[in-house]
This record gives sequence, structure tokens and C-alpha cells, in this order.
Amino acid sequence: MEKRNNFGSKLGIILAAAGSAVGLGNVWRFPTETGSHGGAAFILIYVVCVIVLGIPVMLSEFVIGRSTHANTIDAYRRLAPRSGWIVQGYLGVFAAFIILSYYSVVAGWTMKYLTTAVVGGVSRISDPASYYTAFTSNAWWPIIFTALVLLITHIIVVRGVQNGIERFSKLLMPLLFIIITVLVVCSMMMPGAKEGLRFLLHPDFSKITADTLLSALGQAFFSLSLAMGCLCTYASYFRDDANLTRTAVSVVSIDTLVAIMCGFIIFPAVFSVQEITPDAGPGLVFITLPSVFQMAFDGAPILGYIFALLFYLLLIVAAITSTISLHETITAFLHERGLSRRAAAWIVTSSCLVLGIFCSLSFGPMKDFRPFFGLGFFDAFDFLSAKIIMPIGGIIISLFAGWRLDKKLVRDQVTNGGKLRAPLFGLYRFIIRWVAPTLITLVLLNELGVFSHK
Ligand code: PHE
Repeated sequence: MEKRNNFGSKLGIILAAAGSAVGLGNVWRFPTETGSHGGAAFILIYVVCVIVLGIPVMLSEFVIGRSTHANTIDAYRRLAPRSGWIVQGYLGVFAAFIILSYYSVVAGWTMKYLTTAVVGGVSRISDPASYYTAFTSNAWWPIIFTALVLLITHIIVVRGVQNGIERFSKLLMPLLFIIITVLVVCSMMMPGAKEGLRFLLHPDFSKITADTLLSALGQAFFSLSLAMGCLCTYASYFRDDANLTRTAVSVVSIDTLVAIMCGFIIFPAVFSVQEITPDAGPGLVFITLPSVFQMAFDGAPILGYIFALLFYLLLIVAAITSTISLHETITAFLHERGLSRRAAAWIVTSSCLVLGIFCSLSFGPMKDFRPFFGLGFFDAFDFLSAKIIMPIGGIIISLFAGWRLDKKLVRDQVTNGGKLRAPLFGLYRFIIRWVAPTLITLVLLNELGVFSHK
């Protein structure tokens, strides 16, 4: 097998990992969660969650990946030979597989909206809800767009770590920042900006419940791409002089900043259109926003055109940098098992397309086919990966890094063999051994409905 490739630069490392983290989770899921959990109070708790748990768990994944320089399954095999811990490796690859399948479907919708925006069609949609339903339930078009997303991802992944992933991350991430900045400025100029800002900046602590905390934690894990093998795989391409702590802090900061900025894009816009409430659910970006684009820019259609175009461009760029990391996680494993990179990538692309077709059809022709405890393919994949595997993975990773891994190995990784200082190492150990497993277990129990009174 050829020599294992690495990322070429420190900036490349940060942008690639941030690319994995920044995705539909930031632009689509974060504003939705913020909207339905009362705004500022949710954001505050979210930020505490990413700092207290996000950084330590991400750092642990980096340690596992970089110390072995192997795909996520072999990483566990090497660090804990002949033990059950390898289950986390398999769980990660499996989860990446099913997330990639359903995530590509939503990314495909985004692609469709982008094409509509390009021809100026978003402002002509007369009934966004029916438009959305008609499109997503169509038997063919969403599948074609899903295939397109997978194909673009495929082409980038096949080019390899430095020429594909790193190069595209360096191109797409700055583009993403520029788009976001322009959109925030546009949004601030809208008539409802003040109200939107109040919603985002004035916490109403009476809105905080146990559910707020647990949802914030779940959102943090999803948004940071934790526990799915992706960051562990990327870390396996980090060079030995990369500063793991600094990288984790940078990635978490970028991801959180982007999520909050997306809030600043969406809520002023949403509040500018009186009839629409901020907790419109997941339809927010596909149903609510098209109406916002039309109504808020009634007098200046060209602004509405630009806003819609940039917004869907942002969404697709964010989504693609995430699908790349999911694809790479599986491709790396198959490749290091002896397949050529190209063959491995084709297997991933085609099998995810097959599953993606089922996910897509579960909005239309197969709507009534609900083989998974009453859930169709899309909902079942989402639930299984984001609500079950992610917390289980988080618990296993924390226990693995906190209790099983040799403390010296971890310290060596964090300090690059003593070259860097790690003043908060004790705090990290405490969190990863005690706090993280406990809190994540609560999230899992909450997802399973243990605390619900319904
Ligand atoms: N973090 C990505 C997002 O915010 C989603 C993702 C989850 C990507 C898990 C990879 C692994 O959209």
C-alpha cells in the first residue's frame, strides 16, 4: 500500500476539521433548536456545553486518531488489541454510513433550492409549503440531486487527503465565511432586525428546563461531528507537530461562531415577516425562509434574489464539507483494508446512494412504509445515528480516553512529547473520566424518553 498521506499545513487541518463540523447542523438545525427552545437562553447553555464537553471529547478523538495514524476501526484495534473497545470503531463507520445516506438527501434538496435561486425562482414560489412537499415527495428529482451531492463528494475524496479534502476545505471554508458575513449584514438591515436581536441576546431563564440542557448537548455533539469516527479519521492525518488542544479549541470556536452567526442571519429575517414564528421546525430553511425572502424584500426584489442565492450556496457549501468527512471515514477504512482508494470510494458512494434512495422515497412513494418501529428510512436513520449512536459513542470515547488509554500516552499526544504546555490537563482528565460519561448518559436516557412525562 502507498505511504499514508497527511494534511500539509496547520491551517489545512483546522479548516478541514471545521469543515466537517460546520454543516447543515449549524445552518439548519441550530436555528431550529434555538427557535424552539426560547432563543438566548438556549444559546447560552449551548456555549457552556461545547466548552465543557465539546472540547474535551474532540481532544480525545484527536488523541485516538493521531496516536495511531490509522482509520477509526484500526485505531481502536491498535490502542486496545483484542478487546471490546473496537466496537466504537465499527459504530463510527456504521454511523458515518447512515448519516451520509440521509444527510445527502437534505443536501440534495439544498442543491435543488440553489438551482431555483440561481434562476430567480425562489421569489416566485407562491406557496412554499406545497412547493416543498411536492418536491420532496417526488419520486425522481430528489434522488437525482442526492446523487449529485454524493458524486461531488466522491470526486473530492478520491483526490486524496491533501489534493482533495485539504485543498477544497481551504477553498470552501473562506467562501463560507464571506457568504455568512454578507448575509449577517443583509439581515441586520431588515425591518425586524431589532426584534430578532432581542430574541437572540436577551435570555429568558424561565425557558430553561432539563430538556433545554439535554437538547443543547445533543445539538453540540451533532454540530461538532463528535463520536462518528470523522474527527478521529481526520486526526489520523495530522502531522506530529500539530497542536491538538489548539486545533480542538479552534474548531469548536469556528463551529460555534458559525452557528450563532446563522442565528443572526435567520432570526432578524424571520422577525421581519410578522406572520412567521421562529419555532417553525425543520421546515424553517425550506418553507419559512422562501416566504421571508419574498416578503422582506418586497420593494427590492434584487436583494431578495441575492439573499436567497447566497443563503442556499452557504447551505450547500457547508453540507459538502461535512459529507466529505463522512465519506472519508468509510473510504479510509476500506482503503486500508487493501482496496484501492478509488474502488473504496465507489463502494461508499454507490451503497450510500442506494440507502439515500430509500431515505428520499420515504418522503413520497414509500411514505407509508415504516419498518423501523413505525419510522420510515429517513427518520429511522436520523434517530438511530443522531440520537442513539452519537451519545453511545460519546460515552464509549470518554470512558476509553479517560480510563483505558494510558495516561502517559494521552499526555504525550496533548503535549507533543513534552514540547507543549498543558496547564489544564488535570481538568481535562476529570471531565473526560467523570463529567462527560455522566452527562452524556443523561442525554441518551432523555432521547429514549426515560424522563418524559407524556
Ligand atoms: N457536524 C455536521 C453538521 O453540523 C454533521 C456531521 C455529523 C458531520 C457527524 C459528520 C459527522 O452538519
